[in-house]
Amino acid sequence: MRNKLIEEAKKVLLGNKKKGYTLPTNNKLYPAQWKWDSGFISLGYSYFNLKYALDEITTLLRGQWKDGMIPHILFHDLKTNYYPNHSVWNCGNKIHSSGITQPPVLAIILKKILDKNKIEILDKVKIKSIVQKLKKYHEWLIKYRDPKNTGLVSILHPWESGYDNSPLWDYSMNEVKVEKNLKYKRGDNKVINPEYRPLDADYDRYVTIKNHLRKNKYNPKKLYNKSMFNVVDVGFNSIFLRANKDLLELLKSFNLEHNKLKKFILKSENQIEKLYNEKKGVFTNYDIRNKKKIIVPSITNYFILFADLKNQTINKKIIKNLKNHNHTKKYIFSSIKPNHKKFEEKRYWRGPVWINCNWIIYQGLKNKDKNFANKIKEKTINLIKKNGFFEYYSFKTGKAFGASNFSWTASLFLDLVMEKKYN
Ligand code: GLC
Repeated sequence: MRNKLIEEAKKVLLGNKKKGYTLPTNNKLYPAQWKWDSGFISLGYSYFNLKYALDEITTLLRGQWKDGMIPHILFHDLKTNYYPNHSVWNCGNKIHSSGITQPPVLAIILKKILDKNKIEILDKVKIKSIVQKLKKYHEWLIKYRDPKNTGLVSILHPWESGYDNSPLWDYSMNEVKVEKNLKYKRGDNKVINPEYRPLDADYDRYVTIKNHLRKNKYNPKKLYNKSMFNVVDVGFNSIFLRANKDLLELLKSFNLEHNKLKKFILKSENQIEKLYNEKKGVFTNYDIRNKKKIIVPSITNYFILFADLKNQTINKKIIKNLKNHNHTKKYIFSSIKPNHKKFEEKRYWRGPVWINCNWIIYQGLKNKDKNFANKIKEKTINLIKKNGFFEYYSFKTGKAFGASNFSWTASLFLDLVMEKKYN
């Protein structure tokens, strides 16, 4: 059974593979290369084809902008029905792309791959060049998304978080005034049941923010202050803190300059604690544009465990709270706490279980609460075994929703079931 599933997971990845990169799914929902998907996909390949693993990252980095930004989508194939497509984004360097980024998981993934594989001398040159490009990307995030040097970076569009439709953004999105005479044609709700996809009212705002970024020529210097959306998100910053820690190790191992990064890490570690609400024992977001604390019980707030904070008192409290999220249920973790008013069983990012969220939290718990970590791992594997490699699942019934043959679900499944071999 286990081996059969491992073979199936590999088949999902190979089935979605194009030249040098891999689609998130084999249906028409996401016909391009997505940034954090590619990170997770690369980890999956690393268990059976190291070349494919490195190619996935290298291709993504070919689309890196001159200033260092790595776009959240690269449009290798221009003839698709996806909206917003390459022509409405109207940007890119070498490869047509979107004009925003996505969670910085690449340094974390690369370090994981290097930790468990012997790398040949020839590959070392390739990897050093990847590390240098990632350094440039992290410097871009620090320079333009934290221009006031606070230690925390902002996202300027909900899509940058990767949890696009989360209730985390509802307050800030309500403040966005929809562009007059907005005209566009969505493609996503023709491929997938609209009940599982964002509402038109939300989409109008996504598109309005995007158009505004384009009007400002995606100029990162201007946009921190001008953007219609500017939020310091716990999940994104937790991933960034962890990625910075891993990048630091990578830079050291290639004898590359790392002093500035070291300082930034210290600052972030201190500042991120300011997002902690001691009374409730949870981390909360901050909307910079509207000067407002956002308290929504999103599973992504627990990504803080992945950041490996030194503060054990906070870690313990967070774990205690996580255990109240919904862990006694058969299917964990709902993206939003089930008793919250914004919880929806089927709509994406507003309730369903996502394998990458479980995986991130599992990674964060491994060195803090092994029993709990193993429980999460077991439940995640069982959910996939029972329901297949889908985009997301109902936390109530385990029923699968969204796209089938989902690449990151297959990849992270491979990592969960095969990691022991190497640990
Ligand atoms: C959706 C998700 C995003 C993901 C993309 C491709 O937009 O919200 O996180 O990267 O699909 O799978």
